[in-house]
Amino acid sequence: MMSRRLEVGMARILGIGGYVPDKVMTNDDWAAIVDTTDEWITTRTGIKERRFAAEDESTLDLCVHAAERALADAGLAATDVGEIIVATDTPEVYMPDTASFLQHRLGCDTVPAYDLGGSGCAGFVQALDIARSRIAFADRKVLVIGVELISRLISWQERETCVLFGDGAGAVVLGSGAGQAELLDVVAGTDGSKTDILTLVAGGTRMPFTIETARSGAHQHLEMNGREVFKQAVHRMSGGVDDVLSRIGRTIDDVALVIPHQANKRIIDAVAKKAGIELDRVFVNVQSFGNTGSASVPLGLWQAREANRIAEGDLVVLTAFGAGFHWAAAALQF
Ligand code: UT7
Repeated sequence: MMSRRLEVGMARILGIGGYVPDKVMTNDDWAAIVDTTDEWITTRTGIKERRFAAEDESTLDLCVHAAERALADAGLAATDVGEIIVATDTPEVYMPDTASFLQHRLGCDTVPAYDLGGSGCAGFVQALDIARSRIAFADRKVLVIGVELISRLISWQERETCVLFGDGAGAVVLGSGAGQAELLDVVAGTDGSKTDILTLVAGGTRMPFTIETARSGAHQHLEMNGREVFKQAVHRMSGGVDDVLSRIGRTIDDVALVIPHQANKRIIDAVAKKAGIELDRVFVNVQSFGNTGSASVPLGLWQAREANRIAEGDLVVLTAFGAGFHWAAAALQF
């Protein structure tokens, strides 16, 4: 019987794109709506402002902008895409998934397209892991997007959560041909014992939408134990960096840039400290965009590349953590 060898490591990043909406929401804007201050938000999170989608923009629009930029960066047409994965917790509609809408809007023919939903802020890096196996087995170009339009789905009354988030999208095209960076390896994990620490319950079968859940605001209520999420995020994101580096036989000293999930500057500082890397080799944009969920890592990658923070020959590590709890880290050789 013929067996097909899995060429691990053959996936390359061919193009990178990102998009954030124009509308800026500052900490002072939030202070006019909920009982908070610029001082509290800045000292506890490092966030100064975030971007919010315009009323006529939807999750799909954010995806399209980021995808078109990634395709242009790769020098590819939509018809070259062989598979689409969209990581999001804030989809276009409840069903079908955002990837179906995106496939049609971009004009990608009838290629497989699916969402990785509910994976929290780790979704994009998890999707890289899936994409590389699709490339190894099916040798196609995979468009991977991380996107969130959180501002429209979260409560604007709950100061514990509303001030943390922002909207945006990031995209990469991966394939086996010549590209900008080789995806050397990805590590990923899930601890399903902590599903109650960061969760949005309403809308599922456990609590279907009713007039009562809508009136109580349950459909917009993000249940979150901030301190526990903080601790786990530091532990898992720094652990992800260590694990992926040990799998490729490199150390933190070899790394030119770490691009962590942007949830909180204090989390990023703690991850850098635990991973043993100085902050000048860590990418930070949380001050401008807040926590953009699964968009945060690809947006960071896009911005870092645009700002010439990445040069040819650089080893770059992505690390993410989110509800689930899920975590994932990836090593890229530019
Ligand atoms: O990507 C996953 C999404 N979630 C996260 O990443 C969250 C991770 N956790 C964090 O970033 C931090 O835990 C927070 C920024 C959410 C909170 O910071 P903290 O230093 O852990 O504060 P805390 O939860 O211990 O709350 C301190 C106080 C509380 O008041 P009392 O009980 O001390 O009187 C809160 O009620 O701050 C209060 N508080 C606020 N005050 C002003 C909570 N939110 C706000 C607010 N403005 N927006």
